[in-house]
Amino acid sequence: MTHIGTKPTKNAKLLAWVDEMAALCKPDKVHWCDGSQEEYDRLCQELVDGGTYIRLNEDKRPNSYLARSHPSDVARVEERTYICSEKQEDAGPTNNWMAPDEMRGILNERFDGCMKGRTMYVIPFSMGPLGSPIAYIGIQITDSAYVVTNQRIMTRMGSKVLDVLGDGDYIPCVHSVGAPLEPGQQDVPWPCEGDISNKYIVHYPETREIWSYGSGYGGNALLGKKCLALRIASTMARDEGWLAEHMLILGLESPEGEKTYLAAAFPSACGKTNLAMIVPPEGFEGWKAWTVGDDIAWIKPGPDGTLRAINPEYGFFGVAPGTAYDSNPMAMETLKQGNCIFTNVVLTDDGDVWWEGMDGDPPAHGIDWKGNDWTPASETPGAHPNSRFTAPAGQCPTIDPAWEDPAGVPISAFLFGGRLSKTFPLVYESFDWNHGVFMAATMGSEATAAAIGQAAIRRDPFAMLPFMGYHMGSYWQHWLKIGQRGDLKLPKIFRTNWFRKDENGKFIWPGFGQNMRVLKWVVDRVHGKVDAVESPFGMMPKHEDITWTGLQFTRDQFLSITDINKDGALAEVEEIKGHFAKFGDRLPSELEEERRKFAERVGMAPDVWSLSA
Ligand code: GTP
Ligand code: SPV
Ligand code: MN
Repeated sequence: MTHIGTKPTKNAKLLAWVDEMAALCKPDKVHWCDGSQEEYDRLCQELVDGGTYIRLNEDKRPNSYLARSHPSDVARVEERTYICSEKQEDAGPTNNWMAPDEMRGILNERFDGCMKGRTMYVIPFSMGPLGSPIAYIGIQITDSAYVVTNQRIMTRMGSKVLDVLGDGDYIPCVHSVGAPLEPGQQDVPWPCEGDISNKYIVHYPETREIWSYGSGYGGNALLGKKCLALRIASTMARDEGWLAEHMLILGLESPEGEKTYLAAAFPSACGKTNLAMIVPPEGFEGWKAWTVGDDIAWIKPGPDGTLRAINPEYGFFGVAPGTAYDSNPMAMETLKQGNCIFTNVVLTDDGDVWWEGMDGDPPAHGIDWKGNDWTPASETPGAHPNSRFTAPAGQCPTIDPAWEDPAGVPISAFLFGGRLSKTFPLVYESFDWNHGVFMAATMGSEATAAAIGQAAIRRDPFAMLPFMGYHMGSYWQHWLKIGQRGDLKLPKIFRTNWFRKDENGKFIWPGFGQNMRVLKWVVDRVHGKVDAVESPFGMMPKHEDITWTGLQFTRDQFLSITDINKDGALAEVEEIKGHFAKFGDRLPSELEEERRKFAERVGMAPDVWSLSA
């Protein structure tokens, strides 16, 4: 086996582990990634030569590439994702589980020789600013150059990480696409294990290890993201008294220069990237919105008692379809600067990219995500619904000046929301911390494209259902405990729902930039500037406390997305009963108490509760 270059570390544990992995996976070569631009360009060129990447038009998309995945490998595979704790009860009812020994047996077989004919890349990466006390270092081993190039955008990566690591400890992340090459065998543009039941996304929370086999796509393969920063980090956070959450982080600056930071959890493909890059609309002259992160927040109690959040990532892995100057101009501006990788979108005849929902007319002709000719008359979408862009966060015009501050930014409010077409009002605030935890624990959302194999509507507590590293009931207890500490300046907690529909199935609330009107009310509540009305769900805004300047939206329309239908609410009470029953004796009694109080409020409500009453 060839080692490329000199080994860039003296870390004995790391050197031994890399040797061990090479002996297991049997690659042709081992390549320690230095993270340089030169290395990135060289790997991209190799991917172009091998047919994985298509270099885009240099004038329109400088230094950017398009990849098309295998049609069997387009999203996270939740049914193949495992939490292998020693005891099954520690993984809880929402995770797939297998005994660690049994899983190790299976994986040893799969990984034995899995990199034959390929290069094994060693990627040192930092989740969080390099050297920050909040950051953690991972080392990912992979046989995919596509993954290496994406990781260079998504994480701080390369030799500088090894310098910070020194003799220290790291989280080992082993990844293979599961497609060894026999001598003389021609490679394919997107190697992966085609049989879904042979894919494995595995976490050992007790030993803090990640093993991923068979997929090259997104969260299955970029192991710093969901595997490390959420599933493994959530267990570390429980042990160490902090929070690892599926949340965007956003700073809102008033015309007076007062900055208020919010963190918001929405399930996958429910608008985190959009909200993280919101542009204040007409009526908000002088307001500025600043992006800290669009997917993951690590939140730790600071010395002053505030909860301090960092974005552990370095880039955005955003849903492409629906991204447009209309809906998310800052994302479009981020992409325009180049240095991006696009996966599973349309290639236009002039070497640009396109996807459904982009501004303007669709191209008359292009090549779809499967590599076939495509025109607007085609019956299938040109871009896959879960097609994505990988873009450097630093290129976002609204990136917060404090986004790399190792101390993090102070969070004043948590928002939780899903896609709910009825019953749930536009926005409401919890009565107190425990009620807020109840609101987040009972979150639900209608289906999106970010995961395959799920029901039409599902409960997605804290938007963490696919990302919990331990028992969901214990996680709720962990959140309740944060509220009981007494030494913290606790953020307020809100639920939002941009997705109520009218009788014709149309969204009533304009959403996107107009969500600023809701955020402004949240900021006003944080600073005690407005009072609120008690409803069966929580505290709701008065019509006159929302800034309406610049928007055609009648008071009646507002009432129609804030009223509460008693039958719908009663059904919710019943569903929560069933939802909670799954958690057995790990359901915190505080949440059962909140459910009882909620049932009582709904029981006393009129047939239709309205802010107009
Ligand atoms: P992950 O990256 O999968 O975690 O998802 P995300 O939450 O970042 O999703 P993203 O922001 O990319 O959501 C994309 C989808 O939500 C697109 O289809 C958008 O059009 C839609 N969306 C975003 N904000 C709004 C909104 O305010 N109203 C409506 N109706 N749709 C929205
Ligand atoms: C999500 O599904 O929530 C994502 C995309 O952010 S992935 O990284 O593929 O999980
Ligand atoms: Mn996500």
